[in-house]
Amino acid sequence: MAEEQSKACENCRERKSARWREDFPVRWENDNYITRREMVKFLGLGSLLIAGANFIVAAIPHLEKAAQYPELKIGMASLLPSNGSALFNYPTEHDPCILVRDKAGDLVAYSQVCTHLSCAVVHSPGENALFCPCHNGYFTVEEGRPYAGPPTRPLPRIKLDQRGDAIYATGVEI
Ligand code: FES
Repeated sequence: MAEEQSKACENCRERKSARWREDFPVRWENDNYITRREMVKFLGLGSLLIAGANFIVAAIPHLEKAAQYPELKIGMASLLPSNGSALFNYPTEHDPCILVRDKAGDLVAYSQVCTHLSCAVVHSPGENALFCPCHNGYFTVEEGRPYAGPPTRPLPRIKLDQRGDAIYATGVEI
């Protein structure tokens, strides 16, 4: 019995004084602590990452604005009577838009996609408005600004350029 105990103790001592422990002295109780320098490095890098992400998110709208839009002939001015409207697609054939000659005789154009839930807005000459029949949303013809119903954001405006009688769409103001 005593012999067995002394053998066990020898194994124990061997384990404690193993060669690798001498080569790599690690104080296990300190392993759970991080140094002030590591903490500062972690916070610094974390802040840098968050600042970088914010910068990218802030730059996205500017990049979109800088996007090049095609120039597209969308109609003839003489064919659009006062308080009349016409539909076209811009900048792609999948983007419905509406061109309106307001009461003052000026031409304005907007995306036809309602800023509430994407129904198509139509021209309502009697009310001098752009009207969304889905939830009775109303936008002003002059600015595309919502003034009644659930929409809160204005309609994206299509930039126009008139050359002679021809009307061209040249960009989108979001
Ligand atoms: S989708 Fe136009 S008002 Fe709701």
